[in-house]
Amino acid sequence: MSPFQLTRTLPEDATDADLRADVLQGLTSMPKELPPKWFYDARGSELFEEITRLPEYYPTRAEREILIARAPRIAAETGARTLIELGSGSSEKTRHLIDALLPALDTYVPVDVSASALTGAAEALLAERPGLRIHALIADFTRGLELPAAPGPRLVAFLGGTIGNLLPPERRAFLTSVRAVLSPGDALLLGTDLVKDEATLVAAYDDAAGVTAAFNKNVLSVIARELGADVNPADFDHVARWDREHEWIEMRLRARHALTVKIPELDLAAPFAAGEEMRTEVSAKFRQEGVRAELADAELELTHWWTDREGRFALSLSKAR
Ligand code: AVJ
Repeated sequence: MSPFQLTRTLPEDATDADLRADVLQGLTSMPKELPPKWFYDARGSELFEEITRLPEYYPTRAEREILIARAPRIAAETGARTLIELGSGSSEKTRHLIDALLPALDTYVPVDVSASALTGAAEALLAERPGLRIHALIADFTRGLELPAAPGPRLVAFLGGTIGNLLPPERRAFLTSVRAVLSPGDALLLGTDLVKDEATLVAAYDDAAGVTAAFNKNVLSVIARELGADVNPADFDHVARWDREHEWIEMRLRARHALTVKIPELDLAAPFAAGEEMRTEVSAKFRQEGVRAELADAELELTHWWTDREGRFALSLSKAR
C-alpha cells in the first residue's frame, strides 16, 4: 500500500455552499460579521505565513519553542501510534512532534480544508521519513470528525491557538467531538494563547507593517472573487480591539464612508453606515483554569501545562477519561 492516502469527507461544492450561507447570514445580521475561516484562500494563507514571521506576532515562535522543548516528553507520556493533527496547514511545527514520536508512530493523519496544503505537506514529510504512513483528510473539523481506522494510542493535536477562533459554545461542541474519537487514555495536545497586557496583544493583531490589515481585508477579496460581490477592500479600515470582558481580540473591518455591498447572485444589498464595523475574527486568550475547566466539560483531564519562557503561550496535554 502506498504510504500516502488522501480522503475527502467534504463534498467539492460544500465550501461554496457554506461561504454563501455564511455571507448571507453574516451581512444581514446586526452587527454584521463574517467567520474567520474564509481568510484562508491562497493569498490569505500566504499572508498568514507572513504574519507568523512578524516581530509583533509572538504565538508561532512561542509555540515552536515549547514543542521543541517538550516533544520528547509528549512522546513518552502518550506513546502515540497515531497522530491526528487538526488544521495541519503546512505541518511545519508538527515535524518536531513527529520526529519525537517515531519509531512508535504508525500513522499521521493531517486534517485540513485545503487539499493543496495536505498534499504539499505530506510530500515533504515522506521524502525524509519513508517509514511513515500518512492518511490525509480533507475535512472541516468544526463539523464533527470521522477518522480512518488507525491504531491506538491516539494523540490529537490542535495547535496555533486556533481554538481561540471559536466562540465558547463552538469550543464546547468542538472539544466534545474531539473526545468522541478518543478512547480512554488517548490524548489531546492543545495550543492556547494566554491573557497578557493589552499593548502586546493589540500589536500582535495590528502590526506596523500592515500585514494583518491586508490579511483582514483579504476576506473581502475572497467574497468578491467567489461570489462576485461588488466590494472594494480600500473602502474599509482594519480594526483590532481587546475585549477585556470576554478576554478576546476582535478583528473588524470598518467602513470608511457609507456604502452598500452588493451581491447579485445572493440577491443581497448590504448597506454599511459610515464607521460601521463588521466583526471578522475573535481570537480568545486563555488562563490555565479556564482551559482546565473547558477540557473537563468534555471529559478530558488536563495532565500537563507547558509555557514558553516568557509565559505568553501554553501547550496543554490532556487525557480522555
Ligand atoms: C488562526 C489562531 C493562528 O487568531 O492568532 C493571526 C489567526 N488572525 N492574526 C490567531 C490570526 C490575525 C490566528 N490563528
